[in-house]
Amino acid sequence: MICVSLTKEIENQLKKSRKKNKTVGLVPTMGSLHSGHLSLIEQAYEKNDVVWVSIFVNPIQFNNSNDLKNYPRNLKNDISKIQHLSDKVRVFNPSVKEMYKDGLSTNYYDFEPLDTIMEGEFRKNHFNGVATIVYKLLKLFNPNDVYFGEKDFQQVLIIKHLITKKFPKINLVICNTVREKNGLAISSRNNLLNKKNYKKCGLIYDMLMYAKEHVSKKDINKIKEYIIDKINSISSFELEYFEIRDSKFLEKIDVLDKKQKIRAFICVKVDGIRLIDNMKL
Ligand code: PAF
Repeated sequence: MICVSLTKEIENQLKKSRKKNKTVGLVPTMGSLHSGHLSLIEQAYEKNDVVWVSIFVNPIQFNNSNDLKNYPRNLKNDISKIQHLSDKVRVFNPSVKEMYKDGLSTNYYDFEPLDTIMEGEFRKNHFNGVATIVYKLLKLFNPNDVYFGEKDFQQVLIIKHLITKKFPKINLVICNTVREKNGLAISSRNNLLNKKNYKKCGLIYDMLMYAKEHVSKKDINKIKEYIIDKINSISSFELEYFEIRDSKFLEKIDVLDKKQKIRAFICVKVDGIRLIDNMKL
């Protein structure tokens, strides 16, 4: 597996690919690869001649220093999970210094109101941190296609905004959420759950399904009340938000308009482990 840590080296590698008219796919990750990432990488593998997986824990998108410190890092393990695709897949694993040559500074973008609600409300400046690193990666790789998972739907909208404004030629591919058997969306944080809580987390998916099944029959506020009560009835669960919003601008929906595309969004802290999910209704 080719694994590169310097941006100069990436530029050289990309030059070679472009010379041979090879298409380039990029899958940005923070490592700790799981089956959700693998599904992005496999889709990129199917479509592109060369696939770069970036593995970089981006310090400026963390609003909690403990969270950053404890974020799992295991490059060897990550590489072993994608080794079988090494005929096309390469890894970019830069240091913090390499990505932030002039120090850890965040670029501020105007994503209003996308970056101040839900995740943006609970994780101040998180999305500017994400956009700063994604901007750097897109500028460096200038890929034909870039892949992100729908599990982080709000992040996807932010990146869509960034791509439309700054990189209109890059194709954004949004991939479906991969789920555990009990419906729990796959995330690196799931490994932190104990067995008992892991089992209980099926309720998060069940509540999204409840919203999907009832949205055309029941008052939206009644659906919200039901779900908030259900989640809060579990002792290890703490609901941060459950919201129903439109899929484009994330405006709050109180009354159903059948012409509008809407989604349910949820964030639950399970024994302190923050899990997010969403579903098209
Ligand atoms: O979704 C993630 O893993 C990160 O937010 C991303 C997009 C790789 C930026 O650091």
